[in-house]
Amino acid sequence: LIADKGQHRHFMAKEIHEQPTVLARALGAWTSSDRNRITSDAEHIDWSAVSRLSIVACGTAYLAGHVAKIWLEQIARLPVELEIASEFRYREPPLPRDGVTMVISQSGETADTLAALRYAKAQGQQTLGLVNVTTSTIAREADVVLPIHAGPEIGVASTKAFTAQLMCIALLAFMIARKRGVIGPDAETTAIDVLSTIPRILSEVLAQENDFAALAAQISDATSVLFLGRGMMYPLALEGALKLKEITYIHAEGYAAGEIKHGPIALVDEHTPIIALAPSGPLLEKSLSNLREVIARNGRVAIIGDAAACQVFGNEAWHCLAIPHVDPLVAPFAYAVAIQFLAYHTALCRGTDVDQPRNLAKSVTVE
Ligand code: G6P
Repeated sequence: LIADKGQHRHFMAKEIHEQPTVLARALGAWTSSDRNRITSDAEHIDWSAVSRLSIVACGTAYLAGHVAKIWLEQIARLPVELEIASEFRYREPPLPRDGVTMVISQSGETADTLAALRYAKAQGQQTLGLVNVTTSTIAREADVVLPIHAGPEIGVASTKAFTAQLMCIALLAFMIARKRGVIGPDAETTAIDVLSTIPRILSEVLAQENDFAALAAQISDATSVLFLGRGMMYPLALEGALKLKEITYIHAEGYAAGEIKHGPIALVDEHTPIIALAPSGPLLEKSLSNLREVIARNGRVAIIGDAAACQVFGNEAWHCLAIPHVDPLVAPFAYAVAIQFLAYHTALCRGTDVDQPRNLAKSVTVE
């Protein structure tokens, strides 16, 4: 493998900027040539007979699994259980006979995820491996391999593999919804059309890199940062905190916005930046009331939202960064780029090793 950073300073920057191309490729690989139908080897499973899907993964792949749970439950009405691999494998949970287990792994080599896959197989589950590396052990051992087509990811902090996982998961959700009779062919085509807008929208967010660099400069001397989100933005808040911790060594926590009053609000003071992922939509009002509680306690709230959200909140917040208004199906992708940029530019301010953060490995093959 000849790894090349191209014009970029770091692999992470290159991989962030590659996302429009990667996601267009993944979408193309998972759809028919007329773009009307989702095609995947997972089609051969009789999804109408599946009582439950168990999703198991580690790290960023686990957070993609969190998004998967929300989409598969909402779009396909399929009950989903989600667990981190190192807990799942030792807990040895009972798995339903008519269940399917999906492991998610960029490398396909993570030891705990592989052990979880082997456990699920031994329990008689049908198994899916959503992987980037198709020559990996997980790809070899899963009954059905679902490739995400992200291309080699070199930066230790996962970026393009995360959004490629999300793209494939969105498509999987609509395909399963069709097979379960929850949606008709028109809804499937519409979903593909909406997902086709993602490369263009991500290019727009990528063009806002300087805005994120400016916000990053303001949080780079913080000792602790809180990320908040509701609904689909909750896993994105967790991923925002994970990315920041990984490459900047700033303590960060992701929280469901509605839960901060049950603990984290005690941490709030004028030194703690609070990054609120708040696109406009049915949950915005709820998030705003949570944020007002934080602002009333002198919290430094930075909103990452769309123009409508920033208009509602502009005067009260410490910082407001508007990205394009997007369809709810597109939001996780757009906000993923936002949190990647925030972590990346904060790391540049602090001078940390972006591509090889201390104590971390790209692929963890020990237990
Ligand atoms: C390591 C990496 C993370 C990754 C996790 C799971 O901790 O540093 O970026 O999310 O492993 O890796 P996998 O290859 O299974 O997705």
